[in-house]
Amino acid sequence: VDVFLCREGFEAAVAHELKLAGARILPEEGRAGLVAAELLSGVERPDPAFASQSLPEARRLAGDSVAKLARGVFEAVAPGIDLAPAWTLHAVAPETEDASRLRGRATLLGREVDALVREKLKRAHRRRTPWEKASPTEPPAVLQIVLARPDEAWVSLATPGPLPSGWLEPSLAPLGRRDVGDDRDAPSSAFRKVEEAYLLLGRAPRPGERVADLGAAPGGWTWTALKRGASVTAVDRAELLPPVRGHERLVHLERDATSWEPDAAQDWLLCDAIMIPQKTLELLERWLAARWCRAFVVNVKFKGEDYAAVPKLRALLVRAGVARARVKQLAADKNEVTCLGELPPA
Ligand SMILES: C[S@@+](CC[C@H](N)C(=O)[O-])C[C@H]1O[C@@H](n2cnc3c(N)ncnc32)[C@H](O)[C@@H]1O
Repeated sequence: VDVFLCREGFEAAVAHELKLAGARILPEEGRAGLVAAELLSGVERPDPAFASQSLPEARRLAGDSVAKLARGVFEAVAPGIDLAPAWTLHAVAPETEDASRLRGRATLLGREVDALVREKLKRAHRRRTPWEKASPTEPPAVLQIVLARPDEAWVSLATPGPLPSGWLEPSLAPLGRRDVGDDRDAPSSAFRKVEEAYLLLGRAPRPGERVADLGAAPGGWTWTALKRGASVTAVDRAELLPPVRGHERLVHLERDATSWEPDAAQDWLLCDAIMIPQKTLELLERWLAARWCRAFVVNVKFKGEDYAAVPKLRALLVRAGVARARVKQLAADKNEVTCLGELPPA
């Protein structure tokens, strides 16, 4: 059984994506913020947009105390940890409304498991690596403990491997989330989405690069590029706010983003315009087909629970011949997904 973690309320969306990939969903094992599934063997590992992290070959353990759960986890993973050249540990609660209730207990459980490893597998314990210091080229095995309920945990020990898109799964970051930090100068909190996308992509705008930001107002995304020394063309009929407005490396065009064409190739396409998914997909396809940009971060916004645009978006990326791309609901995304990627060099 593989478990996929998601934001509470998006379990059905993840299940739908997994079913499209031929997986069998185990509804009785579903709890808020996670979906358990039997994947089809011999096909590409699915990478659902609404899942932030996965637990390959997960096992569900029950125990009415932290100590019992810890023993269960230890017994389940001890042989694997003993063999692993390096390993890291995530002990988390799923992303639910009342996650704070479980988070403390999950941390305790993680500590107890760590203590058992230290006591019983001394040498293996020395090979524990903090995930922040782990090498993506030689990733450690990831021991994930997800406390689904106070008396129930999912556990998985797996060495991250590349998806067809090239990204490592499971992610080395707990819950698949990375902290983007704060920016008090940003004109809006929307900057968090694009910063997360840069982290996932492993690159961000650089000094001298050209960035087109479509649907840019009030300027959060534009600011992330300006503050890194890039030049930005921001396309939006709405007003930009300081410190973006009037910036020396900014051109603001009060135009409709769907029909605007850049007069020179851009290094980046950023788009957070509020449009129906079909329009956003058309815009992205036009930009990729014309090779107007190299890297792209495009947010797709949904109304209700019709996510039919997600598989269409994936098909579009294949048609466009991207070098790599990923579609994810990021931590800061609401009922949205963000598509990020790069075209191959010209
Ligand atoms: C969610 S806001 C963008 C927030 C921005 N990324 C930030 O960080 O501050 C969406 C913007 O899209 C703009 N927009 C919607 N449709 C547009 C279109 N067809 N062309 C240009 N801008 C559009 C709206 O005016 C609005 O300012």
